[in-house]
Amino acid sequence: MEKIYAVEDIIPLTMDLISEFQTLLDSVSYIGRLSRYKNDSAEKVINDPVLPTNGVREKNIQKCILGPDGSMVNFTQYYMGYKSETTVFLGDFYIHRASQNKGYGRTILRLYEEIWRRSGFNKAILNVDIKNWVAVRFWFRNGYSRIIQWIGDKEYSNETFAMLRLEKELNSSSG
Ligand SMILES: CC(C)(COP(=O)(O)OP(=O)(O)OC[C@H]1O[C@@H](n2cnc3c(N)ncnc32)[C@H](O)[C@@H]1OP(=O)(O)O)[C@@H](O)C(=O)NCCC(=O)NCCS
Repeated sequence: MEKIYAVEDIIPLTMDLISEFQTLLDSVSYIGRLSRYKNDSAEKVINDPVLPTNGVREKNIQKCILGPDGSMVNFTQYYMGYKSETTVFLGDFYIHRASQNKGYGRTILRLYEEIWRRSGFNKAILNVDIKNWVAVRFWFRNGYSRIIQWIGDKEYSNETFAMLRLEKELNSSSG
């Protein structure tokens, strides 16, 4: 890992970063579920974020981190108060492909967890595609090890999907 990021490096994702954001989206489009974001979807993600049922824009947070060269290293989207007021739903967490496997994911995730704890959240949940094995591993190793729901089709095929909903208690500093 070349740079150690801090909470101060986390900035809002704004329209002036659209080209850096699209480059990041293109880099993670090798993940099946994210291939729909390839080419020209950055603007739509910023302007028209996917919200939970009855969700409101004000509780939906989209942030990013830029590297020393100005390229986008991380995009994070989360929803504050999903089902319970003290639960955060982590919707998107992407590390630019060129920056993966260097420890950035783990350190940046910890920054967000610290922010959430300080804001009074005691739980974080997320969905992960079972086929995205690298991510399943990443989440379990970082403490998202409680499976609270199995989401997906009942039949196995290339077209059907299967996801795990994982949960982490934020009060403990483990993981
Ligand atoms: C999942 C994802 C966020 C992980 O981010 P990352 O920055 O690669 O994560 P880390 O570098 O902290 O950890 C990944 C691996 O690199 C290893 N690693 C950490 N520092 C390292 C270093 N300096 N050198 C080599 N390997 C290192 C970690 O031990 C870990 O390995 P493990 O899985 O065997 O434990 C990233 O792969 C990603 O953005 N994927 C595409 C989008 C996606 O799937 N997002 C999640 C959707 S649910």
